Amino acid sequence: MRRALLKANEEVGKLLLERHSLQIKQKSDMFDLVTDMDLRSQEMLRDAYARILPEAAFLGEEDMSDTPAPGQLYWLVDPIDGTKNFVHDLQLSCIATALCQDGEALLACVYNPWNGEFYFAEKGKGATLNGEPIHVSSRSFQDSMAAIGQGYGERHETVQRLKPLWEHCFVHCRGIRAFGTAELSLCYVAAGRLDGYIEQAIMPWDYLPGNLIIREAGGVATNWKGELPSPTGMDSLLVGTPDFHQTMLPLCKNLQASCGF
Ligand code: IPD
Ligand code: CA
Repeated sequence: MRRALLKANEEVGKLLLERHSLQIKQKSDMFDLVTDMDLRSQEMLRDAYARILPEAAFLGEEDMSDTPAPGQLYWLVDPIDGTKNFVHDLQLSCIATALCQDGEALLACVYNPWNGEFYFAEKGKGATLNGEPIHVSSRSFQDSMAAIGQGYGERHETVQRLKPLWEHCFVHCRGIRAFGTAELSLCYVAAGRLDGYIEQAIMPWDYLPGNLIIREAGGVATNWKGELPSPTGMDSLLVGTPDFHQTMLPLCKNLQASCGF
């Protein structure tokens, strides 16, 4: 399965590297973009994954019309995570895939075509980067490097909810970054490059693959209440090393309660 997924992701990755004649459209608002490449990537992945596992349903960020039956396997795919990075040619985006059953990711991969990094995890079997096992870091909170996602949602509300967390990390950690791709940020936590990632409103295709990879790498992935994030709708996200997660969770819980979301 790993080899077949890598091959399919490499094929689609070639298309993303070409990146010519981009047609950009707005989705829900002026900050939410989709390009023709997102759609072409999704269609190529749909075809390739149907050849790998014909019985599985397919849900993609740009087409969620399929309805998996209870117990049926389904692919949950983000054909380009980091669409705005892609539009700006920042060369920091990825293809993210989870194979799920009843809302649980059983297997996941994240592929960055710009540097060939392929993250892969299977439930209970650990996580790898290009075939080598990976693990979250053992850094203390004060030595940690955090990252934050700006996410969906009304921008003033987003600032209100993220600012205290950004401030806490900026004051007490080594640093805080914003890479514009949730899935690669999650994989960087799994690989021990980053130590934590925080976002206040994020969709399942942006975190289910990365969350499995983090858990299989020894990290913790919950929403701001400390529960498993929703497998079907928008939720908050707090992931990291056990130390990072434990330190930030009370702040996240307080913010969630005081902002009432
Ligand atoms: C977005 C990116 C971004 C995160 C947003 C996601 P997209 O995904 O991962 O970093 O903050 O929540 O929606 O739209 O580029 O696939
Ligand atoms: Ca996307």
